[in-house]
Amino acid sequence: MESPSLHRLAYVSTYRSGRVDGELTALRAILSVSRKNNEAADVTGYLIFDGESFIQVLEGPHDALQATMDRIARDERHRDVAVLATQPIETRSFREWKMGGYRRTPAQDPIFAAHGILGKIDRSRIDYETAVSLAQALSLGDARSP
Ligand SMILES: Cc1cc2nc3c(=O)[nH]c(=O)nc-3n(C[C@H](O)[C@H](O)[C@H](O)COP(=O)(O)O)c2cc1C
Repeated sequence: MESPSLHRLAYVSTYRSGRVDGELTALRAILSVSRKNNEAADVTGYLIFDGESFIQVLEGPHDALQATMDRIARDERHRDVAVLATQPIETRSFREWKMGGYRRTPAQDPIFAAHGILGKIDRSRIDYETAVSLAQALSLGDARSP
């Protein structure tokens, strides 16, 4: 049974390039820590990165989700972290925590375009529904590709 306190949140943020770590190193570090922490906290979700902006959807029991988001918001590898909404849900859309590839690829452009994102992510135009729908569509695409 899923926890009755199951919630989902989505946020957008802007990548802040490190003075020491390159982009790839930073992303790899985020991925490995997140997999471990999220599995322990029963948090699942999906992370999108296009080289400039992050969109992340996270799902889990309310308190675990909040604790995870508090840590993420303090992370200096990104800035202007804006939570779009936090809402109760009945079932998860994401069964595991995943990053959609390391970085957005041209093959995903049609999925971004279907969500009104024609070039780079314009974070001022992303709302909660768009973020969730985009993450769902990208994760389905991942499942279909070999
Ligand atoms: C874009 C982005 C997404 C992240 N996603 C997660 C996540 O889903 N889960 C997580 O535990 N940490 C995530 N992190 C890493 C956290 O900010 C933090 O570094 C990590 O949880 C370790 O926290 P601690 O050093 O306080 O233990 C993310 C960081 C960034 C920049």
